[in-house]
Amino acid sequence: MSIASSAFRLAARLDAVGFSDIVNIRNRVMELRVAGQQVFQFEGGEPFPATPAPVKEAMARALAENKTRYAASSGVAELRAALAEKLRARNRVPVEERDVIVLNGGMQGLFGAFQSVLNPGDEVLVFSPYWTPIKDLVAGCGARIRLVPTDEARRDVFAETLARYATDRSRALYFNTPQNPSGVVFTRGETEEVAAFVRERDLVVVADEAYEDLVYDGEHVSIASLEGMFERTISCYTLSKSYAMTGWRIGYAAAAEPWMTGLRKTTLYSTNGVSTPTQWAALAALELPADFFASTLAEYRERRDLMIIGLNEIGLPCAPPAGAFYAFPDVTRIDADSRAAAETLLERARVATVPGVVFGEHGDGRLRFSFSTSLETIAAGLDSMRRNL
Ligand SMILES: Cc1ncc(COP(=O)(O)O)c(C=O)c1O
Repeated sequence: MSIASSAFRLAARLDAVGFSDIVNIRNRVMELRVAGQQVFQFEGGEPFPATPAPVKEAMARALAENKTRYAASSGVAELRAALAEKLRARNRVPVEERDVIVLNGGMQGLFGAFQSVLNPGDEVLVFSPYWTPIKDLVAGCGARIRLVPTDEARRDVFAETLARYATDRSRALYFNTPQNPSGVVFTRGETEEVAAFVRERDLVVVADEAYEDLVYDGEHVSIASLEGMFERTISCYTLSKSYAMTGWRIGYAAAAEPWMTGLRKTTLYSTNGVSTPTQWAALAALELPADFFASTLAEYRERRDLMIIGLNEIGLPCAPPAGAFYAFPDVTRIDADSRAAAETLLERARVATVPGVVFGEHGDGRLRFSFSTSLETIAAGLDSMRRNL
């Protein structure tokens, strides 16, 4: 006889926190592959190159030299110094070493940032379509997101658009550039307009610069580099996309007080820092020659152009993304419901994508195609769509 127990109940704060939809798509692809079908995979979010050899070598060296003990919870001093230098030189963010913390990828930075800023009932302004984990990170604080359509903001005046969506509960703004999934890179002028609004409303910015090194058109502007913004911005970075290190789980954040205390606490009581040998490997990544990004970017650009030309030829209109590694075409020709469109594409052409609605209501009618894969896969996937749609 089973006795109903009140013990087996998840803590309420996790009730509103969901799991990513993308997992379902990966499962579908896996099923097809197990059944022996070829699938052209564009649903991922991984860089296509291998992790650079000097990074792997530095990891092996760290292990051989027994750099395997606890490091300071906020990071190895040499790495923090190199990150502070990078932030000053490349991002123009006026940091000291004490303003930098090493973290387990961009995700831990975003987690710590929202935990440090939000109280239950608070709201976060989020340009949309948006990277969906943000909703769950915010929900985990008992707070909620307010979506601000990026297209509307770019068409109208930013301040006016933001004012339409802000409320007296607005506490923070999530600023992701280059954006996932749209590839939008906010211009310096747009970033300044957002910063002016944030200062006027006394908000805090959580900046997500995961794709900062993948910009094809325009420039990457770190919002914390603008006048009066460093103090009110928690800037989250990762080595995942820049150095093809997604599985290493290493990133960092830059912030002044009181935010840094929040980041230190959330780190200390979750992971107590990043694996020590991984940090030495990260230092080697930062020391790669200056032309590393130029050559990687050229390879991404070639893939972007192939994908964009192909999608437009097939009749799936798509403006070239200015950054990141995703194409986000209008697929209403296949189906206005992006889940149905993704299913049709998978069934008929064996092409796997992510339905735009996964990135919020403003993403519906679109599909996200990652072009971070081989040129052969892109060509073959396009060919399959041409023949089967
Ligand atoms: C917009 C955005 N931010 C942050 C991340 C987090 O990356 P990671 O935790 O691998 O460093 C990702 C990863 O896909 C992303 O797309």
